[in-house]
Amino acid sequence: DDAIKVNSDSRDVVQVLRENNKNYLVLYGSQTGTAEDYAKKFGKEMAAKFSLNVMCADVENYDLENLNDLPSNVIVSLFISTYGEGDFPDGAIPFEDFLTARESGDLSNVKYTLFGLGNSTYEFFNGAAKRVEKYMNEAGATRVGPFGEADDGAGTTDEDFLTWKDSVMEELKDQLGLDEHEQVFEPSFEYKQISQGVSNEISLGEPTAQYMPNNKIEFSPEGKQVGPFDATHPYVAPITATRELFSSGDRNCIHAEFDLSGSNIKYTTGDHLAIWPSNPDEKIAKFLECFDLDADTVFSLVPRDSTVKLPFPVPTTIGAAVRHYLEITGPVSRQFIASLVQFAPKEDLKVELTELSRDRDFFAKEVTVKYLDLADALLHISHGAKWGSVPWNFLVESVPRLQPRYYSISSSSLTEKQVVHVTAVVENFPNPSLDDHQPVTGVTTNLLRNLQLAQNKEDIQKTTLPVHFSLEGPRGLFKGYKLPVHVRRSTFRLPSNTNTPVIMIGPGTGVAPFRGFVRERVKLLEKQPNTTLGKHLLFYGSRNTSDFLYQEEWPDYSKKLGDSFEMIVAHSRLENKSKVYVQDKLIERKDEIYDLVKNKGAFIYVCGDAKGMAQSVHAAFVKILSEGSEISTDDATAILKAMKPGGRYQEDVW
Ligand code: 2AM
Repeated sequence: DDAIKVNSDSRDVVQVLRENNKNYLVLYGSQTGTAEDYAKKFGKEMAAKFSLNVMCADVENYDLENLNDLPSNVIVSLFISTYGEGDFPDGAIPFEDFLTARESGDLSNVKYTLFGLGNSTYEFFNGAAKRVEKYMNEAGATRVGPFGEADDGAGTTDEDFLTWKDSVMEELKDQLGLDEHEQVFEPSFEYKQISQGVSNEISLGEPTAQYMPNNKIEFSPEGKQVGPFDATHPYVAPITATRELFSSGDRNCIHAEFDLSGSNIKYTTGDHLAIWPSNPDEKIAKFLECFDLDADTVFSLVPRDSTVKLPFPVPTTIGAAVRHYLEITGPVSRQFIASLVQFAPKEDLKVELTELSRDRDFFAKEVTVKYLDLADALLHISHGAKWGSVPWNFLVESVPRLQPRYYSISSSSLTEKQVVHVTAVVENFPNPSLDDHQPVTGVTTNLLRNLQLAQNKEDIQKTTLPVHFSLEGPRGLFKGYKLPVHVRRSTFRLPSNTNTPVIMIGPGTGVAPFRGFVRERVKLLEKQPNTTLGKHLLFYGSRNTSDFLYQEEWPDYSKKLGDSFEMIVAHSRLENKSKVYVQDKLIERKDEIYDLVKNKGAFIYVCGDAKGMAQSVHAAFVKILSEGSEISTDDATAILKAMKPGGRYQEDVW
């Protein structure tokens, strides 16, 4: 019987912990799955090294009212990601409410560790975790170890985590009197191989599968899709049009249109579309080969207690799980390599894995900078010998979940109410560190490119694809060009007063939401010809004309919007010309920009690359303001900062 042994239906975190004989608690609040991933890794390692019975849970799923009644030997580890302008993840908002409602002393028995996941290119870096720290402190809780802060903006999340983890584990060993031993994998699920083949009862990776209250799973692909559609339950949307936007042939950028009219999904100009990818055939084959796995094996997982949730619908096949649920092409973490030591097929490989996992620089040099994924890295270490000794259920529990990818929507909800456009540049370059030079490929962007070529048959003759995807989907669910999607609301919004001037900066695919903005203004004028529009400036950058996105559309928008719209283009790789970037163009127009910002209340929007571009653009505005007003750069920076809460300086950067 596959039913979960549920002791009670309680949502009380302390009661559930006690009923399941757990003696360590990990809680996470996650927006896109990163905090969840790190929380689980941490919990797994605590269990593997110290034989603790760890309960790992999303704060969303439990009531914390009795948190102060945790057994005195139980410490809670909190993992909180920050989203948007210093916000808690959507699901963790009740957790914030819980914390703000605590009074002094309410959590005086609670001992906790804290790790925040954030991005320093955003204003309120780790804002949510910082507030957790403040509230916990005010309520009298005691922090164990340092407050860890991961910085995705610097690309150091993994190393930040490892540094924090090492020091916090030392502290926990002390406080809880723990004995450390070599890691021993403690499965959270009982693994069952099922002898019969694929039948209608077996999931093949249908993203529309629904978890039913009796812990059974329904995944009828024939049935009508039933909403609401959200981050846990996507809509399989028809892709009504795709086209290649680059003309040079050596790089690709895909325009794709998703028809949401069969769903009840609403979007607003400036929102994001999440696309749920699946892995390409070549990478799946390499992964299965590396771990000596058979794609057709049918298996099930039974949670060992009521605190764990199935990672995906079961029973299913190994092939379906690898294709639809495991992030097999992402970067490998040192911690993951450390957790594999226990399964090394030979003694010398155990030594190699240990060395690799202990030495940060060596790991970076051997794995990270070579863009090796898990299978690449292991085959590199073993000189091609297989890793069949690594159990499949360990991989299921330890390889991160394949996450949906988010794209800034490039259509306007005023023009295309139920059709969403995305603009995705395709990541694909040969990996010189691999013997076969197999390319490094972005999973979703290459899937879109495969789709585009399949849908536009004449284009496919002219090219060879780096990787191939099954476009049919499980049980033909994606046939006729469909992919699972959901919409994420953003705060990236045009000013409500149409007279307000708008300054948009979006080089490359950063132009996506601005195409939406401009289409929105065009439509508005069509509907209400008497509308007056403030100045709308769009600063766009590309290498040259071959990657000039939507080049043929802009003149038409200009014609319709007249003097209120102007596009300023910077090309960085024109023959015999020096590099020009959007920030250079801003400076060229500094007097006008200064006037719009200082005297006319202009709204500023920046979209695109977070590290280089967004920072340089910010610096250009600092310069323009400080020179214009004859104030210090610090004062100019403070003015720009003060513009953010009111939406006058908005960023959608990645
Ligand atoms: P590149 O030729 O140097 O790559 C879209 O990718 C455009 O953004 C390209 O013209 C690209 O120039 C440019 N770009 C790259 N880095 C940038 C940065 N730090 N600031 C502004 N533009 C940048």
